[in-house]
Amino acid sequence: MTQNADFDALKTQLNDIGQSQVLQFSENLTPEQTAPLLEQVQKLDFAKIPGWVDQYVWNDGSLKVPEVFEPAPSYPVEPKTDEQTEKYAQARKIGESLIREGKVAGFVVAGGQGTRLGFDGPKGNYPTSPIKKKTLFQIFAENLLAAAKKYGTSIPWYIMTSPLNYDATVEIFENADYYGLGKDNVFIFQQGTLPNFGFDGKILLAGKDRIATSPDGHGGSLKALYNSGAVADMRKRGVELLSYWQVDNPLIHLIDPLFVGLHVMDKAGMSSKALLKAGPLEKVGNFCQVDGKVTVIEYSDLPDEAAHRTNEDGSLAFELGSIGIHMISIAFIEKLNADGDFALPFHRAVKKIPTIDTEGNPVKPEEPNGIKLETFVFDAIPMADNSIILQTRREEEFAPVKNATGVDSAEVTYQMMIDRSAAWLEKAGITVPRKADGSPDCVLEISPSFALDAADVKAKVDQVPEITADCEIYLD
Ligand code: UTP
Repeated sequence: MTQNADFDALKTQLNDIGQSQVLQFSENLTPEQTAPLLEQVQKLDFAKIPGWVDQYVWNDGSLKVPEVFEPAPSYPVEPKTDEQTEKYAQARKIGESLIREGKVAGFVVAGGQGTRLGFDGPKGNYPTSPIKKKTLFQIFAENLLAAAKKYGTSIPWYIMTSPLNYDATVEIFENADYYGLGKDNVFIFQQGTLPNFGFDGKILLAGKDRIATSPDGHGGSLKALYNSGAVADMRKRGVELLSYWQVDNPLIHLIDPLFVGLHVMDKAGMSSKALLKAGPLEKVGNFCQVDGKVTVIEYSDLPDEAAHRTNEDGSLAFELGSIGIHMISIAFIEKLNADGDFALPFHRAVKKIPTIDTEGNPVKPEEPNGIKLETFVFDAIPMADNSIILQTRREEEFAPVKNATGVDSAEVTYQMMIDRSAAWLEKAGITVPRKADGSPDCVLEISPSFALDAADVKAKVDQVPEITADCEIYLD
């Protein structure tokens, strides 16, 4: 098709779905400006857009909270019965041998826009560790290197970016020489995007030659892993399981034999780690069970009565919060994508979206002016035949860098990284000086090459120098 025929066909398709404004400035564009715009238009899902407008612009579109739901069962942090003790031991063994055989890969979702943190560039490049100021990407890379060494294997790393931060992310990895992992072991790919809508149901323009789009949410990973060739790459390497985490959490135990083993023993397709919520209304998804399937109900959707409901011992009935840590079987991803049209439900967010006015002048809205749609990865959990939940401890595994200040901020993460190092050292019998408020009176950083967990510290206790008040100690 020539460019003109192409253009006319797309114009007709846009007219047919009431979105002709997308090409309203096209007559004044150069061919160089028109080509990328047409490329964006070609990628629009013409068949689905009218339905999305109806469901998410004219209506609030959110999923209805099921009438009947109960707390989801979970595995505790420590086994509670003899039977569980035996199962955990067996799971660890199974997990370790799968890791050793190279069947487990790492997968971080790093396509978000990180608007709350307000950091310039991909969030993975945020300097995070207490002393060396290692970036999140470097921390994860060193964890993977150390785990690969520990288990005598190689662990490939899959990284999802978005079209907005792909180039910058690749540049970071190239400049860092792939943090010693080897370029072949790092697979960086892009997730899809969705158009943004104004409150009038019209697709917004970010410029005369650009549609306003945003990444399709971390749920987009399940499609993008498949479409990008990442799944094919895993099959080639013999990878069967993906350890999934979010780019903002430096405490993650990213290769956990117990989690791998329990997932496999229970024949799960997609599993999760959970923590005990800090309170009834903590802003995390709630693990529930609906029709026998593990289902996450968002904090904003959980009815107040359920959020506050308690058990006889006073604990919260819905006590398990979702923290974006999953184990996903490759076979499950393949099954989802097999029919070619798998889709997760959309969540709508009313946002301030930079756009242009009818003259084409840029507009930076002070008030929300439109709707972004995104998908959440945990919505895929009920699509798995089986799914397990393993509890973990917040202080051991969850300190997300989300905000510039306050809750879930870099400042909190910094302190939690020091606190965890102190706890690991004390578990190994080392004295850590503490302030009157109980917090460590020193700055500590344990490199992943030194220890991946408390047990590793214990094994190297003779290499730890004396820790005095007000000191700075980096263990490498
Ligand atoms: P968040 O929900 O924290 O969103 O993402 P965000 O975009 O990073 O930050 P804000 O809300 O703009 O401040 C949780 C995880 O999911 C990834 C993020 O990179 C982060 O690791 N994510 C989110 C994607 O990979 N793609 C997306 O489209 C959205």
